Amino acid sequence: MIFEKNILCIGAGYVGGPTMAMIAYKCPQYRVTVVDINPERIAQWNSDELPIYEPGLYEVVKASRDRNLFFSTDIEKGIIESEIIFVSVNTPTKTFGVGAGMAADLQYWEKTARQILQCAKTPKIIVEKSTLPVKTALAMERILNSENKGIHFDVLSNPEFLAEGTAIKDLEKPDRVLIGSSLTDSGLKARDELVEIYANWVTTDNIITSNIWSSELSKLVANAFLAQRISSINSISSLCEETDADISEVAHAIGMDCRIGNRFINASVGFGGSCFKKDILNLVYLCRHYGLNEVADYWESVVKINDYQKERFVYNMLTAMFNTLAGKKICLLGFAFKANTGDTRETPAITIAQKLIDENAELVISDPQALKNAKADLKDMGGKISYVEDPYKAASGTHAIAVMTEWDLYKELDYDKIYQSMNKPAFIFDGRNILDHKKLFGIGFNVFPIGKPSMTHFD
Ligand code: NAD
Ligand code: UGA
Repeated sequence: MIFEKNILCIGAGYVGGPTMAMIAYKCPQYRVTVVDINPERIAQWNSDELPIYEPGLYEVVKASRDRNLFFSTDIEKGIIESEIIFVSVNTPTKTFGVGAGMAADLQYWEKTARQILQCAKTPKIIVEKSTLPVKTALAMERILNSENKGIHFDVLSNPEFLAEGTAIKDLEKPDRVLIGSSLTDSGLKARDELVEIYANWVTTDNIITSNIWSSELSKLVANAFLAQRISSINSISSLCEETDADISEVAHAIGMDCRIGNRFINASVGFGGSCFKKDILNLVYLCRHYGLNEVADYWESVVKINDYQKERFVYNMLTAMFNTLAGKKICLLGFAFKANTGDTRETPAITIAQKLIDENAELVISDPQALKNAKADLKDMGGKISYVEDPYKAASGTHAIAVMTEWDLYKELDYDKIYQSMNKPAFIFDGRNILDHKKLFGIGFNVFPIGKPSMTHFD
């Protein structure tokens, strides 16, 4: 079959895999190839056990795989054969040298740019899909034009806004697709070509264009604003605990103001995920680079409040359980950073587990999708940790349960049965406010929600 376009994506991760699967699914006229340096990952994409858990993803992949969607390790061939290349490699926080702990580590991204330059024989449109510091497209252009090969490259910014757990829904009906380009004739032509791809299923009103720097910055700012909402509500949750106000009632009351809105104001044990912290720190680093220290401090406080919320959670556990956790068995219900994903990157559960192990508590970790990742995350932590998928078995014989992830299944457990199997007095710390706290108290639990009065059976 002759395809209208040959699209390549470098990086077959949480973004590259699902986004390309959606393009292939919606556009059978294009050939879409996803490549990665990790052969194990590619083998998983080609199997029935995909490397990531995401509702609806398997069906979308299955419908297009080997029709117009291909996963491969042959990066060179992919570059040679494609006209449009999405770059979706990881851009973690730098762990070394200047900017360590703050700036984005661009080594994977730069290797990709150099490989494109080395292998390309025809003009290409390069699309930044990864989240990058502002002005990275400029660096990309400089690398691509460094050898004067006589090949023209256009660089576009097309940040991804999908959230894990709802990736397929988000990709199928995005709030917006953002495409940034240079404003030259060639840049605008490249931009229109990318608009045309998305227009196969996204209404043109929802495809917005901007200059390339605005596009790069908008991605960092979107994540910073979202994370800021969580830190804002979490900061107020601590005040609620001191004053007998109830954070759910406060969130409801403020959320009904349509200027504030009711989404993304659920108090929690803290936000996790691979991007919020890294992208905010990246923004903070950029602000400091430009001497905007007050602005940097403002955004850095979003991360500080998130750390504080996790510390507070464990401190509340410690004081509630008579100031000692040593030798006590604690069940963490959930380990993923949010429901409907197996991803545990930056999950608050890792920090909570570490702090509990520091108190010499014994841990039982339960999660329907994330136990494999949890084992890898905690393998060097020391202490006594076991992993039990069945929540009833996991909670049995423990002194306390701490809800880390808002999986629906935890709302529907038989807590009478769980209570009977636990050590008494039994405690529940609901780090997601998803349980029926009054009912749990009635069963006999001592209940500690986030940002609400605790309920104990002690005088
Ligand atoms: P990931 O770690 O899941 O995937 C990145 C992949 O790139 C890995 O499989 C890695 O092996 C591969 N890779 C690295 N260097 C390579 C190279 N030189 N050649 C080929 N492959 C290479 O990361 P992710 O979560 O998909 O994130 C990718 C980017 O998208 C990041 O910049 C992230 O900030 C951004 N983003 C992520 C999400 C999300 O929900 N995870 C959402 C929006 C944006
Ligand atoms: C987030 C953004 O929502 C996406 O738009 C963005 O593309 C993505 O980051 C990215 O750049 O990686 P994601 O991290 O997958 O998506 O998931 P979110 O739904 O944003 O949740 C992030 C964290 O905040 C989770 O730990 C979640 O439990 C927590 N959260 C979320 C709260 O504690 N309270 C809320 O009200 C909402």
